[in-house]
Amino acid sequence: MDLSELRGKYIEAVAGAADEAALEEVRIAALGKKGEISARMATLGKMDPEERKAAGAMLNLLKDEIDAALRARKAALADAALDERLKSEWLDVTLPGRPRRAGSIHPVSQVMDELTAIFADMGFSVAEGPQIESDWYNFDALNIPPEHPARQEHDTFFMHRAAGDNRPPHVLRTHTSPVQIRAMTEQGAPIRVIAPGRVYRMDMDQTHTPMFHQVEGLAIDRDISMANLKWCLEEFCRAFFEVDKVELRFRASHFPFTEPSAEVDIRYSNVGGQLKIGEGDKWMEILGSGMVHPKVLQAAGVNPDEWQGFAFGMGIDRIAMLKYGIPDLRAFFEADLRWLRHYGFAALDLPNLPSGLSR
Ligand code: PHE
Repeated sequence: MDLSELRGKYIEAVAGAADEAALEEVRIAALGKKGEISARMATLGKMDPEERKAAGAMLNLLKDEIDAALRARKAALADAALDERLKSEWLDVTLPGRPRRAGSIHPVSQVMDELTAIFADMGFSVAEGPQIESDWYNFDALNIPPEHPARQEHDTFFMHRAAGDNRPPHVLRTHTSPVQIRAMTEQGAPIRVIAPGRVYRMDMDQTHTPMFHQVEGLAIDRDISMANLKWCLEEFCRAFFEVDKVELRFRASHFPFTEPSAEVDIRYSNVGGQLKIGEGDKWMEILGSGMVHPKVLQAAGVNPDEWQGFAFGMGIDRIAMLKYGIPDLRAFFEADLRWLRHYGFAALDLPNLPSGLSR
């Protein structure tokens, strides 16, 4: 076989090698210790010097050429393998996320957004206070002195004090009413605020949980009366429940921080666990209210001879149950995903009056 035939044979073999293993076989057959090119090299010794010089140069050229072809083929095979792998592992990181399940807004958050929108429309801004509250803000400033029986009714959670520290312990606020004091102290009168938030009482059954939500309302001006309170609450309920007929019942009541005081119930029905508003023969208490007691104004630095107004404290979880027909309060706080998916709201629909509160 002459060199050009040998060349043709191996260049072809290199081109035809389908993978690295086949390529290696070709290399061994040609350039390996016992390979064909090596065998030809061994014959050089028997040639005369002139012949050997020419044949040696030719053989070396061929050896280099086959070697280069082997390397090129090897690189091409590696590239092809990488392409193949990239194709199978292809991932478009620029695609938008496709969550298998969208998160949802908890009914309590939804209702807070809804009532904030309604009261904002009536000129109320949002005030806040801490959940760990001092004894003074939670009780004394609200005309509930230490020996007052109303303190027992609040089933209060007390915070810990170091041994030997005899100051009254802080409490987990039992209602949002301390925010009345904070808001009036900070802003003075006139004032119109709501204060939605968490409150705590040691209580647990189908309609009570140790943590629940209230929204406080406070409107102080020179001539605000019970009539304004009644209109405001009725207007709120009509807007909130999004039904034509809402029936409220004002019952005379007593709170140390309001005089006179009224509790408000709303008419509803419960047919097979399905709650409906504005019909039926059941009443659910949804709020306490009244005219702010002069001592409360005084405690917050507002002159009761000049200013007067109303306050109310409404149960947010209760009105959420009523509006959205949710029968068991405890389920609100169990973080059961099935419950959240069923009762939750679309994450990006912010409630507002013009487009409807709960689309
Ligand atoms: N703080 C009272 C409660 O939690 C509700 C209330 C607020 C009553 C404001 C009157 C005025 O029961």
